[in-house]
Amino acid sequence: MIILAIETSCDDTSVAIMCEGEILSNVIASQAIHSKWGGVVPELASREHVGTISQTFFACLEESGITVFDIDAIAVTSSPGLSGSLIVGTSFAKGLSLALNKPILPINHIEGHIFSCLIENPDINFPFISLVVSGGHTSLFYVKSFLVYEVIGSTIDDAAGEAYDKTAKMLGLGYPGGPEIDRRAKLGNPNAISFPRPLLNKDNYDFSFSGLKTSVRYYLRNNFGEDNPNEEELNDLCASIQAAINETLVGKTLKAAKNYNCYDITINGGVSANSNLRELFSVKKNKLVKVHFPSNQYSVDNAAMIALIGKMKLDNCSKESIDKQFRDYSFTVNSKPIRATK
Ligand code: KG4
Ligand code: ZN
Repeated sequence: MIILAIETSCDDTSVAIMCEGEILSNVIASQAIHSKWGGVVPELASREHVGTISQTFFACLEESGITVFDIDAIAVTSSPGLSGSLIVGTSFAKGLSLALNKPILPINHIEGHIFSCLIENPDINFPFISLVVSGGHTSLFYVKSFLVYEVIGSTIDDAAGEAYDKTAKMLGLGYPGGPEIDRRAKLGNPNAISFPRPLLNKDNYDFSFSGLKTSVRYYLRNNFGEDNPNEEELNDLCASIQAAINETLVGKTLKAAKNYNCYDITINGGVSANSNLRELFSVKKNKLVKVHFPSNQYSVDNAAMIALIGKMKLDNCSKESIDKQFRDYSFTVNSKPIRATK
């Protein structure tokens, strides 16, 4: 079984090929155009996808050594995401599906992140706790088995990646802000400034990061006015912001693992690349919890995780249910297809 997967939900165009459960190729074209705007511009993102999707598709076929005629099914991210970006990937997938007469599987992007650790580590034990933490999402899931899971907590305002990006912008650092804060934080003191850790001690699994933005804004105004922090002060700010975000993520995730009796934890999404987050989890992990991080290509937005969900669906759903999903999905428009009446 060869599955072609397409992911275009935000600002990465990605195409992957999975053959008998193994990823042969996972090509990701990241859009640099957004950096000068300090955040993803939806209209620019969809235009970039239009420009790169064919090249990404052919690069993926070449790398995997298969031809279009070898493809058995097409998995494509159908939600959630930026509508213009999703339309590019789903239209490309529908075109291929019709031309090759192969089934199309609409896939939820977040499901892709939840299970992405299983690409490299299929032996993770169920049930496990999954933290999905990116520029658009911060949620905790209790995962009972393949495709069976529940949301146990979410951010009530900004995502953690958004907090990294927005505070980095206030400090005059580039976009995306997470990697630059990560780099500078290694040179700074995480205890220099005490930023809030909202909801950390509340009896739930929700997060809140918008207050951090406000605290950083006031701190800069009260301490620097019109001036800019020097290098040392900037590094301390980065380390303190990072500590506030990461301690909340780690605290809530470990609490969930304890209360749900889970031995395995997976951390997924762009923010999982953060070196301090990885360190904090590795200090906390002991014989009671095992923390898994996907490698970088599977932690950012990627089509390999979409292929994996496609495979799970093919393995677990009947042919009728796949056909129904395909039909429902193909005609997900407000008007019904018109039939001529006799
Ligand atoms: O999953 P992703 O590639 O795209 C979506 O948002 O869906 O995640 C991007 C986010 C950005 O907010 C970026 O700042 C953050 O991941 N990020 C990091 C690091 N690398 C990427 N945040 C903290 N530390 C990093 N090293
Ligand atoms: Zn994502």
